[in-house]
Amino acid sequence: MIIPSDEIVDKSYIKDYEKLYHDIQEHPEAFWENIAKELSWFKPWNKVLEWKYPYARWFVGGQCNIVNNALDRHQKTAVKDKLAYIWVGQPFDSAQGKEMPVRKFTYGELNTEVCKFANVLKSLGVRKGDRVTIYLPRIPEQYISMLACAKIGAIHSVVFSGFSADALKNRIMDAQSKIVITTDKYPYKDKVLDSKKTVDEAIKDISSVKDVILIKRLKSEAADSNGFQPASPKLQRGEPISTGLNYHWYHDLMSQADTICSTEIMEATDPLFLLYTSGSTGKPKGILHGHGGYMVGVYLTLKYVFNLDSQNQPVNQATSQPGNNSIDDIYFCTADGGWITGHSYIVYSPLINGATTFVYEATPDYPHPGIWWELIQKYKVTKFYTAPTAIRALMRLGDEIPNKYDLSSLKILGSVGEPINPEAWLWYYKTIGKEKCPIMDTWWQTETGMFMITPVPSANLKPGSAFKPFFGVEADLVDDKGNSVPVNTQGFLVIKKPWPSMLLDVYNNPKKYLETYFENESINNQQLTKNNQFLYFSGDSAKKDDDGYYWIIGRNDDVIKVSGHRLGSAELESAFVSHPSVAEAAVIGKPDEVKGEKIKAFVILKKGIQGSDELKTELVKQVRKMIGPIATPDEIDFVDKLPKTRSGKIMRRVLKAQELGQPLGDTSTLEN
Ligand code: WTA
Repeated sequence: MIIPSDEIVDKSYIKDYEKLYHDIQEHPEAFWENIAKELSWFKPWNKVLEWKYPYARWFVGGQCNIVNNALDRHQKTAVKDKLAYIWVGQPFDSAQGKEMPVRKFTYGELNTEVCKFANVLKSLGVRKGDRVTIYLPRIPEQYISMLACAKIGAIHSVVFSGFSADALKNRIMDAQSKIVITTDKYPYKDKVLDSKKTVDEAIKDISSVKDVILIKRLKSEAADSNGFQPASPKLQRGEPISTGLNYHWYHDLMSQADTICSTEIMEATDPLFLLYTSGSTGKPKGILHGHGGYMVGVYLTLKYVFNLDSQNQPVNQATSQPGNNSIDDIYFCTADGGWITGHSYIVYSPLINGATTFVYEATPDYPHPGIWWELIQKYKVTKFYTAPTAIRALMRLGDEIPNKYDLSSLKILGSVGEPINPEAWLWYYKTIGKEKCPIMDTWWQTETGMFMITPVPSANLKPGSAFKPFFGVEADLVDDKGNSVPVNTQGFLVIKKPWPSMLLDVYNNPKKYLETYFENESINNQQLTKNNQFLYFSGDSAKKDDDGYYWIIGRNDDVIKVSGHRLGSAELESAFVSHPSVAEAAVIGKPDEVKGEKIKAFVILKKGIQGSDELKTELVKQVRKMIGPIATPDEIDFVDKLPKTRSGKIMRRVLKAQELGQPLGDTSTLEN
C-alpha cells in the first residue's frame, strides 16, 4: 500500500474518499446537480435525470453549449490571458531547420481561432446537426476544428490519423459528413505522410462530402507540390458556396474570416460528437456524446483526479475547496485527439477547468527516447497523463535516460487505456515520480466519456489497481446471471447507475446500443431487463479485493487492446478475408510485454493456395491497408480448420486458450 504524503492530501480537493463516496451515493443526482451549477447554462434544466430504458438523459430541458464553458465564459475573466495550450511540434528537416516549432495559445487567442473557423464552417454551409470529419495529426487545428464544430452545433467525428483510407471511408460514410478537414502533408518522425491522398481515396465515392479543408503543417512545401490547385473563394459570411466538391486551404479561409461568432444554444441532450470505436462485432460503432451531461462529467473528473487548479469557484463547499492549488499547473497529456482521452482530457475538460495543457506532436521515441522527460523538465510539467504501453517501452530502456533530466516539477502522474502491471507502475512511481507523485490509474471507455474507476490523489494506492469508483458512480462485478460475485472472484464489470457523461446512443444503430450495453448476451438476466433496471455492461472483466479495490483484468469480448488502441477481432478478420487468397480467418489478442496485447491470426487459405512467408507479408500489408498501421498483425498461422460452434461461429476463446496453453473451458457447443 502506498500512502500519500500529508502535503498531497492537504492540496487535494478530496481528503476523505470513503466518506464523500458514501454520502454522495445516497443522492447522486443532487451531487451532479450541484456540480452542474458550477458551470454556465443558457437555461436551467427541469429534470436532472430522466431514465427511460435503455436511455439516460441528463439535465433535461437545460440549454447550454460546451464551448460556452470551455472558451466564452473565460473571455470575461483573467483566464483570457492564461495559456490554454502549449504545443511543441516534432523537429523536421525543412525550411524551419531542425528546430522544434512551438505554438502557444492563450484562452483569448484560442477563442479567436475557434470563432474564425466556426465562421468558415458556417460559410461552407455547415449547420447545427451536420457532421464534420476531422482527420488530422496532433496539431492545434485538431482541437480548434472540434471546438468550432461544437460552437455552431455541428457534430464532429474525429478519425485518428493512423487509420487507412478504407477505415476513414467507412467512418465518413456512416456519419454522412459534409466536410472533411485534413492536412496536405505532415511529418511523422523522419517521414512525410500524405494525408490528402488518403482523403482523396476515401471520399472517391462518397457524395455527402462537399468540401475538403487542408491545413498546411509543413510550411516549406510548395503549395501545389502534388498538382493540387486549391480554390480560394471569396467568402461571404453565412453564404454557402459549395456545388460539387471543393478543396480549400485552411489559411486562405481563415484570413478572410470574421473573428466574432455567436455560440449556438443547444439542448443539454443535443449531440456534440461522434467517435468511432471497435466492438466485438463487425464495423466500428459511432459512439454519440452530448453537450450537457458530458460537460459536467468531464469537468469534474479531471479536476478531482489530477487536482487540477481550477478557475471555478465551487458552490458546494462539502465537495470542493478553492484556492489551494498552484495556478501554475502545466498538464501534459500524451494522448492523440483522435481518441476519447484526447476529446475529454485534452480538449473539453482542461479548457472548462481553465487549465494549461501541454502537447507534443510526435511519438515518445522521436527524436530521442528521452524527449518526454526533456519536455517535462523544460516546460515544468506538473501533471503527466500517459498509457502503460509507453511506460513499459520507456522502462525497458533503463533509468539512465530519465535520470538525466530534472523531473522535480511533477506532482501527479496518470495512466489510461489498459491495465498497468505492478512492475511498470512501480517504475513509473519511482523513476519518474521519485516516490512523491501518486499514480492515477483511470479506468474508463469511449462510451463512458469520463473516468469511472479511479483513485483520487489522497487515496492509499496499490500498484496495479485502479482503486474504486468515482463519486456518483456505482460499479459492480457480476456473473453471467447478473448476480454480484464474491470478493477476489473474476466477474463482468458493470455500472449500476447512470452517470452524466455516458454515451447518448450508437449513431444510426440503437439496436446495437441496446444489445451491446444492456442486453448483452454474456449476461442473461431477463429479470433486470423486464424491470427496466439500469445495468450497463462494460465488456471488461475485473476482480475486487478484500479492501474493495478494483483490479481490471481486461476485455471479455472480442476487443483487442494493442498499445492501448482498441481493435475488434471481427474487423481484423474481415480485413484478412478481403485478400483474394484467404477463405477464413480468426484473430485473437496475445499478451505482449510492451504493447499489452499483440495480434495473432489463424488463416485458412483458399483451395490450391500455398502458405508462404511472402503471403504473410502480403496479408500484413492488406490489414494495414484496410485498417491502418496500428492494426499490424504480429503472428500469422496458416491452418486447415478453426474451432466453431454448431451454428458456425468461430470460438476465439478456444483458440486463445489453446495458444496460451490454458484449459479450454466449456466446449460443449464446439462442433469440431
Ligand atoms: C481498457 C480508453 C485497465 C478497458 C479510455 C476498456 C483500461 C477499454 C483502463 C476502453 C485502465 C481503459 N485499466 N484497462 N486504467 N483504461 N482500459 O474506449 O478494457 O479506447 O474497456 O477508452 O480500455 O478503451 P477506449
